[in-house]
Amino acid sequence: MTTHVGTDGSVVGDLGPVRPRRLRRTAALRAMVREHHVRPEDLILPLFACPGTQIRNNIDAMPGVAQMSVDLLVEECREVAGLGISGVILFGIPDHKDSTGSPGYDPDGIVPQAIRAIKDAGLDDLLVIADVCLCEYTDHGHCGIIRDGDVDNDRTVELLAREALVYANAGADIIAPSDMMDGRVGRIRGALDEAGRTDVPIMAYSAKYASAFYGPFREAAGSAPQFGDRRSYQMDPPNIREAMLEIELDIEEGADIIMVKPALSYLDVLRAARERFDTPLAAYNVSGEFAMIKAAAERGWIDEVRVRDEVLVSIKRAGADVILTYFAKDVARCL
Ligand code: PBG
Repeated sequence: MTTHVGTDGSVVGDLGPVRPRRLRRTAALRAMVREHHVRPEDLILPLFACPGTQIRNNIDAMPGVAQMSVDLLVEECREVAGLGISGVILFGIPDHKDSTGSPGYDPDGIVPQAIRAIKDAGLDDLLVIADVCLCEYTDHGHCGIIRDGDVDNDRTVELLAREALVYANAGADIIAPSDMMDGRVGRIRGALDEAGRTDVPIMAYSAKYASAFYGPFREAAGSAPQFGDRRSYQMDPPNIREAMLEIELDIEEGADIIMVKPALSYLDVLRAARERFDTPLAAYNVSGEFAMIKAAAERGWIDEVRVRDEVLVSIKRAGADVILTYFAKDVARCL
C-alpha cells in the first residue's frame, strides 16, 4: 500500500505503486524508453526531373521543392546521399506529351536520362527509385490510355510494363508503379523477369486513394487530369477492406514492398496492413500533407519542426518501415 504525502505533510490519497511519469522526468529517461524512431535510412525524397540545364523551377505550394534539370538533380542527389537518406524517387516533366504517354517509355526520356546521370555520378549508396505512371506524359493527364471516356486498364498495363523495363534498363534500383491499374504488378514483374531483370524489386503503390491531398504535386508534375478525376482507378477514401484486397493482390503478383498513400488520413490503413502482411511497408507523406504544415508554419500558427517530427513518427508508429517525404533532407539534417 502506497500513500502520497502532500507538501504540507498531509496524506492526500493512496495512488498505488505505478507512476508512468517516473520515466518521463528527464530527456535521458524519455530517450531510453522511446518506442519509435525516424532514421535517415527510413526516408525517400521525391524529385522532379525537367529538361534543360541549370533549371530550377520552384513549386509555389511546396516551399523548398523544385523541378530540376538533370545536372542540378545530380548535385541534389549528392547532398541527399551525404545525409544518409536511403534514396530518391524520380518523377519526370517531359518536353512534350501525347495521348498514349509515349515520352514516359522513351528510352531517352527525361527519367532514363536522370537515372543514368545519377548512376554515372557513382552515388552507390543512394537508391534510385523510378515512379512508373503515365499521368505526367499524357496530354489528357490521366494515368493511362483513354477509351470511351475512361482509362483502358489492360492496354495501359502493357505500356506500364514497357515503361518499367525502360527504367530498369536505365539503371533504376527499384520500380514503383503508382497508376492503380488492375494486374499491373504481375505484368511488370513478368516483363522484368522475361528481360532477365529478376533482380529489380517492385515497390507497389498498393493502396493509393483518390485524394485531394495530391493537389500541390499535380502542379509540380504538371499532371492534373484535363477532364474528370481519378476515381475510376484510385481507391475510394472510406474503404479499408478494399485496401487489404489491393495489397494482397499486389503481394501475390510479386510486389516486394507495399505502399499506403496518402499517409496521414490513412494511418489506420497502415496499421491494418502492418498487422496483416509481413511484406515491407512504405507510406507516402504526400504533397498536400507537406503544404499544410509549411503554410501554417509560415503564418506562425504551428512550430514546423515539432509538427513535422510528430507527423513522421506517427507514420512509423502506425507501422511504416519506409516514408516517402518532401521533408527528408530537413529531417536528416536534424538527426
Ligand atoms: C502519379 C502520382 C501522384 C502522386 C505520386 N505519383 C499523383 C496522382 O496520383 O495524382 C502524388 C504525390 C504527392 O501528392 O506528393 N500517379
